[in-house]
Amino acid sequence: MSDEATGGLPEGAPLSLWVATAGATDFPELRGTVEVDVAVIGGGIAGLTAALALKRSGRSVAVLDAGRIGTGVTGHTTGKVTSLHRLAYTALEDSHGTSAAETYGLANQAAVEHIAEVVADENLDCGFRRVANYTFASSEDTLPLLRSEAALAARLGLPAAFTADVPLPFAVPGAVRFDGQAQIHAVQYLQGLAAAVDGGGSFVFEGTRAIALQEGTPVKVTAGNGTVLAGDAIVATNVPFGDRGRFAALCQPHRSYIVAAPVDTPPMDATFISADEPMRSLLTVRLNGVTYLLVGGEGHPAGEQLDPAPRHASLAAYARSRFGAGSAAYRWSTQDAMPQDGLPYAGPLNPDSRHAFVITGLRKWGLTNGTAAALMLADLLNGTPNDWAPLFDSNRTPRTGSGAGPAGAPAAGAGPNVPQADQDRRIADLGPGDGTVLETAGTSTACFRDDGGNLHTLSAICTHLGCTVGFNRGERTWDCPCHGSRFDVEGRVIQGPATEDLPPRPAP
Ligand SMILES: Cc1cc2nc3c(=O)[nH]c(=O)nc-3n(C[C@H](O)[C@H](O)[C@H](O)COP(=O)(O)OP(=O)(O)OC[C@H]3O[C@@H](n4cnc5c(N)ncnc54)[C@H](O)[C@@H]3O)c2cc1C
Ligand code: FES
Repeated sequence: MSDEATGGLPEGAPLSLWVATAGATDFPELRGTVEVDVAVIGGGIAGLTAALALKRSGRSVAVLDAGRIGTGVTGHTTGKVTSLHRLAYTALEDSHGTSAAETYGLANQAAVEHIAEVVADENLDCGFRRVANYTFASSEDTLPLLRSEAALAARLGLPAAFTADVPLPFAVPGAVRFDGQAQIHAVQYLQGLAAAVDGGGSFVFEGTRAIALQEGTPVKVTAGNGTVLAGDAIVATNVPFGDRGRFAALCQPHRSYIVAAPVDTPPMDATFISADEPMRSLLTVRLNGVTYLLVGGEGHPAGEQLDPAPRHASLAAYARSRFGAGSAAYRWSTQDAMPQDGLPYAGPLNPDSRHAFVITGLRKWGLTNGTAAALMLADLLNGTPNDWAPLFDSNRTPRTGSGAGPAGAPAAGAGPNVPQADQDRRIADLGPGDGTVLETAGTSTACFRDDGGNLHTLSAICTHLGCTVGFNRGERTWDCPCHGSRFDVEGRVIQGPATEDLPPRPAP
């Protein structure tokens, strides 16, 4: 086996480099009732971009985030701000036609420029840096695809070219290059957006999980200790709630892994992604006097293959063998909603919604897709025509796929009952830090043993639509394979679409 496949377990903190190196925020929890023009649920790139655009247009907004700003998917990104999305244009032209591919490209390129303008206007210190972005071939066989992607993207008006001159420290036969792209420290960018949103009759609330959205006049958003009454609401929680499960059926949650390892060289003026498998996504950044190489990849449908250790080890081994990087200093993973038809969704939350809207399906390119979708939605709420609206329309009929979710069938309580003696043995065998699901009497119990040897038992039935969760040993979480909800070992929601915790349950 190659060194890349067998590299030792990565050292370093199980944390996002971006979260670890950003300062803290301390926006208050929502308490009592607040009235604004627009309630925005979710303070990631999509929600905060929409909120700032709406505030700039004269609307008052309240942003509610369940955690701290920047600790969602956006805080675990690679950090590329680009309209070059691997080989997206060939695929989009094939599935949706040339005009749709063009609109997608122009919307994403406009998002690159919007981020640059916000950084300048708000004077944000977020490591924004102009770089070229490359999709590179690892084999000669892939070159024809790259040549045609570059030619198509150039015809669509994007800053694209094919090149055989690729500034990587190992030989590759060629790449698509987009000039004038960028990278950012995504958490610092979000913190800057949040600071610009808060104040002057607008609000940012942290530690405030919305648990219900009631459409009407006004729209009512309920959180644990407070309520927002608003003319309109935007659900920008990555995977939405309050949509009767329709976007969970239209998008598949997909998880990927990243390591950040120190290198002896200055940061490159470029970011990269491989066209071939296994996909590797590359970015360098200098923080606190250290240059880090980020290597991302090893993606898979969320809720499957729940041990991150070998995936991080593969990425760390790649960083070592290709770049001479040191041991990984940080390692993390996150997941994003992959729309079946390849296009983000922005528009009405439900087919009949008039005042509740959604942004989702950002397909692992949400720094630009989320920005573009948010700007489009802000225009929609302001009654301003926007050419991107039909492309992102959340009420469209997807052109590909059946519309049924890839793992959408709830499996509550599925599985044979386990005899009591076997259950007792499996519980006794559970070591510290381990977890398992036991099925008994037609229901499922999530059992976790903590480092002190205490057993914690919860319902294993996901509170979103009733699938059975599985234990993620590496992150000590209960992950749902259906639509990506995640819970900590106390049952608390870490990531939606679930909004309710897993309730405690007696040991089986
Ligand atoms: C490994 C990986 C690398 C990536 N790299 C790139 C990249 O280089 N460039 C790029 O463009 N894209 C990249 N992406 C994609 C991009 O990071 C995402 O598309 C984007 O960050 C998603 O933003 P969001 O606003 O939808 O979600 P989030 O950032 O998760 O924001 C949603 C927020 O909603 C909050 N929330 C959830 N539920 C509730 C609730 N009920 N009430 C209140 N708040 C709630 C959460 O706390 C969270 O902060 C990557 C994705 C992955 C998986
Ligand atoms: S059933 Fe939908 S996320 Fe679990």
